Amino acid sequence: MSFDWDHNAFYHRLVLRRLPPGCERALDVGCGAGTLAGKLAARADHVDALDRSVQMIEAARRCVGANVSCILADIGDHHLVVDSYDAIVSVAVLHHLAAEDVLPRLAAALRPGGVLVIVGLPARDLRRDWYVEIASMLLNPVFGAQFSLLRGLTGRSWYAHEPTHDVMPVSDHAPLTTRQLADLARRTLPGSRVRRLLFWRYLLVWHKP
Ligand SMILES: C[S@@+](CC[C@H](N)C(=O)[O-])C[C@H]1O[C@@H](n2cnc3c(N)ncnc32)[C@H](O)[C@@H]1O
Repeated sequence: MSFDWDHNAFYHRLVLRRLPPGCERALDVGCGAGTLAGKLAARADHVDALDRSVQMIEAARRCVGANVSCILADIGDHHLVVDSYDAIVSVAVLHHLAAEDVLPRLAAALRPGGVLVIVGLPARDLRRDWYVEIASMLLNPVFGAQFSLLRGLTGRSWYAHEPTHDVMPVSDHAPLTTRQLADLARRTLPGSRVRRLLFWRYLLVWHKP
């Protein structure tokens, strides 16, 4: 029996909780198969779901509703209209990108009062993060077993990997530790907050003044 589970989907609720009230337009950067974009669409008037993978955008188009535009583009050179989004979110994508170039562009695309919410993968930093690494290693199979049991009992997905997971472009190479990312965020997004999460993720939140 596999106790593997989707750590990214586990953090979708954390992202959704940070959406501003009355969210009109949201952008999901690196939307993958569109699962988070579908959830965003229930809370925002319109969602742009952007990914550079043809397979991911085709998968996203199959699962989202009419208020989601699925955009095949590379965020590195995609034109973003200044002050156009109330929320920009991204899960497990920033380590694929040049964060120092992309973060200011995302910040500019937010409306004043908008929020940027990023769940990312940090580089391992055992000296500072040993406790969270050990906790993650111990809890990962426990959570996996619990979700597997819940799947059997309820018939719901409980953070199972999407069928498209096998063709999803992923990278386990993260260039920045949580602390390095926090330093970069402090410089480019003054007032941002970065905290380390369990299961090899961090959370960055920035409210545009
Ligand atoms: C690990 S997957 C995460 C997908 C989704 N956010 C999730 O949580 O399931 C990373 C996604 O980022 C996309 N991606 C990577 N670099 C990108 C870029 N420069 N522009 C747009 N999408 C990108 C990949 O195609 C892939 O779908």
